[in-house]
Amino acid sequence: MIELKHITQEYDTADGKGKFFACKDVNVHVKPGDIFGIIGRSGAGKSTLVRCINLLNRPTSGSVIVDGKDLTKMSESELREERRSIGMIFQHFNLLSSRTVYGNVALPLELAGMPKDKIREKVMPLIELVGLSEHVNKYPSQLSGGQKQRVGIARALSSDPKILLSDEATSALDPETTQATLQLLKKINKELGLTIVMITHEMDVVKQICNRVVVMNKGVVVEEGAVLEVFRDPKNEVTQAMLGTALAARTIPASMVERVKKVLNTPGENGRKNHLIRLTFVGSSTTEPVLSRACSKFDLDFNILLGQVDEIQSESYGTLTIVMEGTTENFRQALNYIAERGVRVEELTNVI
Ligand SMILES: Nc1ncnc2c1ncn2[C@@H]1O[C@H](COP(=O)(O)OP(=O)(O)O)[C@@H](O)[C@H]1O
Ligand SMILES: [Mg+2]
Repeated sequence: MIELKHITQEYDTADGKGKFFACKDVNVHVKPGDIFGIIGRSGAGKSTLVRCINLLNRPTSGSVIVDGKDLTKMSESELREERRSIGMIFQHFNLLSSRTVYGNVALPLELAGMPKDKIREKVMPLIELVGLSEHVNKYPSQLSGGQKQRVGIARALSSDPKILLSDEATSALDPETTQATLQLLKKINKELGLTIVMITHEMDVVKQICNRVVVMNKGVVVEEGAVLEVFRDPKNEVTQAMLGTALAARTIPASMVERVKKVLNTPGENGRKNHLIRLTFVGSSTTEPVLSRACSKFDLDFNILLGQVDEIQSESYGTLTIVMEGTTENFRQALNYIAERGVRVEELTNVI
């Protein structure tokens, strides 16, 4: 659906004396129906990259292929036509304060020269879709932030786009309004089959609605994958830092280290030993009592040190850090038993 190939964007540095890369050799492939997240800290190059998708930004080099067509090779008029299939929403809504809700949503259609009655036929259902039917004649100053973003969404949908680009669309909203806006975007993705590219600096946004994600840092993609995979096993330190609290349960707090060390160094009776392990589970495996079954089957005891269960895209995922006690042979068999049931299991030998 969208292929960004070797996108590089060079800018002059602030002092005008040198150059730097806002994006450097970025490759991204968005499939039809994706809600594709692009996450990174401020200044990572996310907005630059997303603005390349509709060529609001012309990259220094690289190609932008949308629906099989290379936008970088199009004439201005071809490009104008192509842009109609790509809607965009922004952090600060970008509404016209002198126009009502209706007037804002109708604007792109007026500019495209659509007759008034046709515009009405198009605009009213969109206003209903975003839940603003009661506010149709209000001006932006009479609306809350969430309502303004709904106007932005309805306006972006007015030209029947196939793709919606969202640049920090929920970043100016409170958590509750963010939730409602994300649910609306999810509904649009499902019901209208729109492909959505979501730029955000909040992992929570990615977690809730994206199916795939790329992580950007200093103009380059440092990690990419299915959201569940990236959350389960973040490889890059930027990703790990951005996951923040979602990862808190993976690190043994300093206050526990001494106690855990002591436990691990104390052998049990009859050759039993203590092992520190971490289980990471996603989806249905969370509900299965895999751990307790493994322990009773192989005569092991376990003690939970840390645990967290969270939800990504309506699938639960979580980690448990536990101490397991048993004979080495039984312990190995239990780990295999657990791994065979879809739970990732790691022995933590050098964590503490
Ligand atoms: N038009 C421009 N001219 C010069 N530098 C720019 C321009 N646009 C963005 N930048 C710089 O490029 C870097 C990436 O910016 P941006 O894409 O906005 O990052 P993000 O959206 O991830 O916060 C930043 O250092 C920013 O200051
Ligand atoms: Mg930005």
